[in-house]
Amino acid sequence: MRILIVGTGYVGTTTGLVFCEMGHQVTGLDLDENKIKALQAGKLHFYEPGLDELLSKHVTAQHIEFTKKTKKAVKENDIIFICVGTPQGADGSADLTYVKNVAHSIGKYMNKYKIIVTKSTVPVGTAELVTKWIKEGQEKQVPFDVVSNPEFLREGSALQDALNPDRIVIGSTSETARAIMKEMYRNFHCPIVETNPNASEMIKYAANSFLAMKISFINELARLCDGLNININDVSTGIGLDTRIGPQFLRAGMGYGGSCFPKDVNALIQMAKENGKPLSILESVVQVNEEQTIFFIEKIKETLGGNLLNKKIAVLGLSFKANTDDIRESPSLHLIDRLLAEKAQIKVHDPVVKIAAGPSLVQLQSVEETVTGADALIIGTDWDEYKNLDWAILKPLMIQSFIFDGRNMLEKEALGNLGFHYIGISNH
Ligand code: UDX
Repeated sequence: MRILIVGTGYVGTTTGLVFCEMGHQVTGLDLDENKIKALQAGKLHFYEPGLDELLSKHVTAQHIEFTKKTKKAVKENDIIFICVGTPQGADGSADLTYVKNVAHSIGKYMNKYKIIVTKSTVPVGTAELVTKWIKEGQEKQVPFDVVSNPEFLREGSALQDALNPDRIVIGSTSETARAIMKEMYRNFHCPIVETNPNASEMIKYAANSFLAMKISFINELARLCDGLNININDVSTGIGLDTRIGPQFLRAGMGYGGSCFPKDVNALIQMAKENGKPLSILESVVQVNEEQTIFFIEKIKETLGGNLLNKKIAVLGLSFKANTDDIRESPSLHLIDRLLAEKAQIKVHDPVVKIAAGPSLVQLQSVEETVTGADALIIGTDWDEYKNLDWAILKPLMIQSFIFDGRNMLEKEALGNLGFHYIGISNH
């Protein structure tokens, strides 16, 4: 099948390459010339493990091509996936400007029956809007169907997630479209949920919000456990083994970040308000998440004598989680902002992210340089390489030996044996 992917970000590029793996011919369309040039040369414009090899393989084999030419791309392809961004608008709701523009162009250039699929995370009712926008763009009537087919991949493990999804959701009222979609996904071995577009759109928001809720639940509980000298990791293990609860997304930390959870939970809250059915649980999820960095920084302050003025602090990790260069809503960056407001002197390190230096903020190439002269070290991101550091070498480089583990990822006992003063998130 000839598939067009509109929007070559994380979701679009990964989806396109996974369809190549499944034997389809793919075109990637984007208006950003720099992205297109890079992709045509087989180079990814973002960091995602394993994806660059797949890109160069399929570019070389000509299974995928990239273009800026909307008219030709729309005419030549049968199934069009909309994978453009849906950023957060001023009131918290999803901004559909990019989706609308794409739908208008598809309508304008459509020459024969096509299936238009929304993969971007979009509010309930968007499939109907896309139908309306395509019709508005059409100069002559051509039949088409709109399908909602949300994507559940995570950054950092995008390829594995997209190749091995837990389920595929297909939301459409057209039997023809559903049959074609199922044929397109025939090589995937997972359940397919067939439903209408509204339910499909809701499934995506509900999934992300539920996962965010698990994280806020464990983070708030961690604050209670901290006061009670209980190790929250033991509690996560103890409840996670209950198959009704499940072990994932119960890792206490500095709160969730990224381009999805914060934006999507807010969008669902906004959608609920607009429908007169506020979601108080999710409102609390957001509040707990915002408080979690404050809880952690208060812990740091208290341990370091009540104020952070001119304290030398090394922060390891800047991205919102490991294996990505994405810093959107990164808990580590929120923490750094607060440390700067407290007038601390900060040195940072990250394996892939580069940030601009400021008067009290410098970035160093190595962990050794970053921790040299520090009063305290903070783990901001759960990069694997921080698990395997040689702490015996790092300890003498620091002035004081405080480690604040914002991701509960280090070995408390081993660090204690080396003479470090280790504090995690309720990691007693
Ligand atoms: C998320 C969803 O998981 C994915 O299905 C959807 O398609 C996009 O949004 P992503 O944002 O890439 O994926 O990352 P994810 O692995 O879900 O982590 C989100 C945030 O939660 C990160 O900041 C992570 O560090 C944090 N997290 C995750 C925790 O704090 N504790 C956990 O137990 C799990």
